[in-house]
Amino acid sequence: MKDIIVNTQYVYPNKYSILFTDSVRAITDLLEKHNGRKAMIVTDENVKRYYNGIIQRRISQGSNIYQLDEYVVKAGEEYKTSYTVDGILNELFKKQYAKNDLLISVGGGVINDLTGYVASIYKRGMTWATIPTTLLAMVDASIGGKTAINNDFGKNMVGCMYNPSCVMVDTSYLQTLPQIRLIEGIVELSKHFILFDENNFLDLKNIIKQTDNIKSVILSEEFNELLMESIKIKKKVVEEDQREAGLRKVLNLGHTIGHAIEKIDPTITHGLAVAKGTIAELTYGIKIGIVDKNSLEEITSFYSMMGVDYNIGVDSGVGVGVGKLKDKNIIIDKLIKYMINDKKKTKADKIPIVLINKIGEIYKDEESFTCDVDKNEMMHFLEDYVK
Ligand SMILES: NC(=O)c1ccc[n+]([C@@H]2O[C@H](COP(=O)([O-])OP(=O)(O)OC[C@H]3O[C@@H](n4cnc5c(N)ncnc54)[C@H](O)[C@@H]3O)[C@@H](O)[C@H]2O)c1
Ligand SMILES: [Zn+2]
Repeated sequence: MKDIIVNTQYVYPNKYSILFTDSVRAITDLLEKHNGRKAMIVTDENVKRYYNGIIQRRISQGSNIYQLDEYVVKAGEEYKTSYTVDGILNELFKKQYAKNDLLISVGGGVINDLTGYVASIYKRGMTWATIPTTLLAMVDASIGGKTAINNDFGKNMVGCMYNPSCVMVDTSYLQTLPQIRLIEGIVELSKHFILFDENNFLDLKNIIKQTDNIKSVILSEEFNELLMESIKIKKKVVEEDQREAGLRKVLNLGHTIGHAIEKIDPTITHGLAVAKGTIAELTYGIKIGIVDKNSLEEITSFYSMMGVDYNIGVDSGVGVGVGKLKDKNIIIDKLIKYMINDKKKTKADKIPIVLINKIGEIYKDEESFTCDVDKNEMMHFLEDYVK
């Protein structure tokens, strides 16, 4: 597959490639280009367990790396903190890394965001390459330059915009991902098609329909093509709106309600919360006459095929929290509270949601790409919607 080049004049480095090929070549090229001699892999315990030694061999064989180090972080969102950042920084200083040496993240979105942040601040910016190993990181986290860590005040509260110099997408890593993680990656991947590309949405749906084994689909040629198409959409959006001032907001489809669900119940994984959020937000869109009803049906049947419970209510949900809260009114109160306090929100008492007119066609009013819903109106909607 052909490389994708991302150009972002406001975010440094201004140009980077997304490769679907051999990572050794890319690492060698990067080190040569920057005159670097050392590389440090940052990964987590799970990824290390599965790929212990393999990545190191792939990277060091045939490349001119003079020293290859590794820093292993504990796996999980709770380690995406300044404490972990300090640990990585100290290791880089101890080992006397230069700005032009290379930091390589190998992992999911957590490792990507964390390592990107370290790369952006180490000596005011060192070279960084990223190898995403989850589907979510391939289609989302590794593209667009958002680096971040969490703190006591919330998720992704600290960070900056900083690009990797290279993204290497190799779907063979996905073989060891649990099915649920693949499904949530597909939810994010399909979000790009729901917003911009009906044909590819229908093709994806068709592939999923024909199988009861998602893992085998992920490794197929057809799926790889769709993955690339989805990545191209994210690339286009982030190029057009590098600072999230306009168009990029559409990537929050399903995320306004989705993030609130995640906060109520952290055991509901991000992709599944986004699926629930997408259906709820689009149902609201039908209520106000914006969203095409057939499109919503296409999406709900797509989620159902993958066994995703897209409802919100006392009996729905994957883990505890939303699923186990006995009182629907408590669920609604909490959803509203979290949506009102969302860090992406700008207008008081308004809740911004992203809508489509139909699959492949984003909704836009004269002013913005979001539909600002009055807090009370959202509350009334949820009273009918939440089961
Ligand atoms: N920067 C962005 O634009 C952006 C966009 C979306 C999400 N994110 C961030 O991404 C994070 C979520 O990403 P995620 O879902 O990849 O989570 P993650 O990095 O926690 O990975 C999920 C789990 O899968 C394991 N894992 C990773 N690769 C594996 C593999 N190949 N085989 C087996 N197990 C593997 C990890 O150890 C972890 O336990 C969040 O922190 C979110 O904020 C960032
Ligand atoms: Zn998301």
